Amino acid sequence: MITGGPVPLHLLPSGATHPGDTLHIAGCDVIELTERFGTPLFVYDEQHLIDRCREAVGAFPGGVAYASKAFLCKAMARLAHDSGMDIDVATGGELFVARAAGVPASRMVLHGNNKSDEELAYAIDEGIGRIVVDSFDEIDRIRSIAPASAPLRVLLRLNPGIEAHTHEYLQTGAIDSKFGFPMVEGIADRAVEAIEESPSMTLAGFHVHVGSQVFDVASFARAIAAIAPFISGADVEEVSIGGGLGVAYVDGEESPSIAQWGRVVHDAAADAGITARISAEPGRSIVADAAVTAYTIGTIKDIPGTRTYVAVDGGMSDNPRPVLYGSGYEAFLARAVGAQRPRAVRIVGKHCESGDFIVRDARLSADVGVGDILVTPVTGAYGHSMGSNYNKVPRPAVVFARQGTARVVVERETYRDMVAKDVG
Ligand code: LLP
Repeated sequence: MITGGPVPLHLLPSGATHPGDTLHIAGCDVIELTERFGTPLFVYDEQHLIDRCREAVGAFPGGVAYASKAFLCKAMARLAHDSGMDIDVATGGELFVARAAGVPASRMVLHGNNKSDEELAYAIDEGIGRIVVDSFDEIDRIRSIAPASAPLRVLLRLNPGIEAHTHEYLQTGAIDSKFGFPMVEGIADRAVEAIEESPSMTLAGFHVHVGSQVFDVASFARAIAAIAPFISGADVEEVSIGGGLGVAYVDGEESPSIAQWGRVVHDAAADAGITARISAEPGRSIVADAAVTAYTIGTIKDIPGTRTYVAVDGGMSDNPRPVLYGSGYEAFLARAVGAQRPRAVRIVGKHCESGDFIVRDARLSADVGVGDILVTPVTGAYGHSMGSNYNKVPRPAVVFARQGTARVVVERETYRDMVAKDVG
């Protein structure tokens, strides 16, 4: 029998406690929250989010944008902005949500390897702060859309040719990538010339992003060193290191802090003689461990000599990461935070797919039963944002907890929402 210790408490939001062994987040009893708001439920510790935003602002005094793709709703955009961050938006949709939250477009930076005419025109009309230019086609598009009277501030995204230590799908800086301009055969030089020649654009700086869920901060230093010779000739005001700092998901993993990441990046820039201000755009490291997902266990199926399947009322529709990347998560019962977890099980969702698992090799308390509230920590990033309506399962509600009070910031979808756009 595999024996497992209790869930490591450092994986929980910083405001998590367990009086009577029951999970509380920011003073709110998670079991009570599930009774009020239903399951599956995303529960964020609001103070944890604020603290991470402030840490990022401190670590990157040259400017830091929250990469909203990690988790976006109006409350999150407002919180990041109120905490001093800009907002990184990668589509017109993300821009719209951040604008709906009241964030001025001038505090946003627009990304995307294939921005449409409509997205560019929308961002420009709104008064976008900066656009990260990613292709020659985009340069042509901006030229034809942007008025020459008020030149747009753009950053040029460089492909550093760096293979960061992370999942292949999460690498973005290797030479074989759809992102950025490679610094080979004069390609990135031609992009700089095209921007400098255009009256519609001002080259405000350079951007590089090596990938996501990167634990080894040396990868960021290598990226800085890789682009330094190229950017040394240009007189620009900003160099962005992008995002990508990894976070710990399971027992035994350790991640550098945002502050440590900032120090490594600034040191590398100083070593490379870069005098421009250094900016960054973290997503995951701001939100991942600020939240947990709470599910209700619906069935427990023992296949003697083979495996026990514990099924919850969500699955790949609220957390596709295990299926997409083979990502690991911890799991525990909300009523037994400090309990040993001797029982080896596979936690699966309710979708019509054998691959629909939340935790492939999980350990739970011996007395786990149907009706128990099961919690997976570190689900604040790329869960809700990559969620789907597969099998027409309504997306979960999102709750922000703070000082003993919880408020719904995104309502649970309803069956009616499943036909809201279906005009058949
Ligand atoms: N900046 C750029 C240009 C990016 O492409 C990304 C993430 C970020 C910033 C933020 O990176 P972060 O700090 O969150 O690692 N769905 C995947 C992650 C994809 C990341 C895409 N780009 C996952 O669930 O692991």
